[in-house]
Amino acid sequence: MSWILRVATVGFVSGLLFGTVAQGQAESKAKSGDAARGKTLFARNCASCHGPQGKGDGYRLLGPDPANLTSPSTTKKSDAALLKTIHDGKPNMPPWKVHLSENQSRDVLAYVRTLAK
Ligand code: HEC
Repeated sequence: MSWILRVATVGFVSGLLFGTVAQGQAESKAKSGDAARGKTLFARNCASCHGPQGKGDGYRLLGPDPANLTSPSTTKKSDAALLKTIHDGKPNMPPWKVHLSENQSRDVLAYVRTLAK
């Protein structure tokens, strides 16, 4: 008879575990962006132009210089406006929507917001 108890226990415990994992995912989805993940993405995709600290001291091409992402002219812009720039690009800035998912763009933006502090 004890196997029934064991099956029931395993079922109960895995139910608990699964419930916790599912809850964790729901929570991280609700957040606006993960700056830690964004940091890796920024170093890989953005730092070459915007500089490691986002101060706009990377590559300069002819035309508009990379924005200083820590300056008030950027930081006072809304998330929506900056996400649009990240997605669609600008003169001298490539559009990122091909490479970055919506969530990744949010992660990068969350990291950019930490640079200004
Ligand atoms: C090839 C160089 C280059 C790369 C790579 C690049 N940018 Fe840019 N970025 C620019 C330039 C140049 C501008 C300013 C364009 C202008 O002023 O018209 C800009 C502007 C911006 C702005 C707008 C700032 C504002 O005040 O409106 C944001 C936000 C931004 N970049 C974020 C990013 C992020 C995030 C990445 C990486 C995913 C990235 N950029 C990668 C060159 C680059």
